Amino acid sequence: MKKILFVVGSHRKQSFNMQVAQYVKALLDGKAQVKFLDYADMPFINQDTEFPTPLSVQNVRNEISACDGIWVFCPEYNFSYPAVVKNLFDWMSRPMKQGDTVTAIEGKKLTITGAGGKNATKNCREKLSELLKFIKGEVFDFSVGIIINTEAWVTNELVLTNEQKQKLQKQTEEFLKFID
Ligand SMILES: Cc1cc2nc3c(=O)[nH]c(=O)nc-3n(C[C@H](O)[C@H](O)[C@H](O)COP(=O)(O)O)c2cc1C
Repeated sequence: MKKILFVVGSHRKQSFNMQVAQYVKALLDGKAQVKFLDYADMPFINQDTEFPTPLSVQNVRNEISACDGIWVFCPEYNFSYPAVVKNLFDWMSRPMKQGDTVTAIEGKKLTITGAGGKNATKNCREKLSELLKFIKGEVFDFSVGIIINTEAWVTNELVLTNEQKQKLQKQTEEFLKFID
């Protein structure tokens, strides 16, 4: 079974993007092995402390190397993606060994989903796609944007419409083919 690594671009306990990720995890049940990437303890990248590689960074690289595909669930922060996501991929754009050029992210297949306000994370998804391509990821050209239902901002419970569920179903099926 293919291994898909889920990256949630929000560490908030009741994150809507985490809720979408949980929904997609259920869609993938029996079709792929899903693992959530734990990257909350990564330090900010600083070339002074790049080598020897910090343990938290090494752990993330191991997870990325071991998966067949990466699914990023990402909120939009001020017309772009959050800093934690940039930091994660900045680390992944760097060589695994000093003086080498091989990175963990090169050639990895990725797809993006974003839950946010009324533009459905359009700017985040565009910019994140640009970043991932720049660091030599193979980005699946079909991303899904979710507009968070109005009540959720009070209840913290995301309720997906049938249309949103259908889009996620399509993305799931197409991404499985893409990584096959
Ligand atoms: C610093 C910051 C900037 C934000 N900027 C945007 C934005 O540009 N567009 C948008 O749709 N939502 C924006 N939001 C609102 C987020 O969509 C909202 O907080 C959402 O709940 C974040 O995703 P999460 O629930 O997965 O943590 C912003 C939130 C924060 C904290």
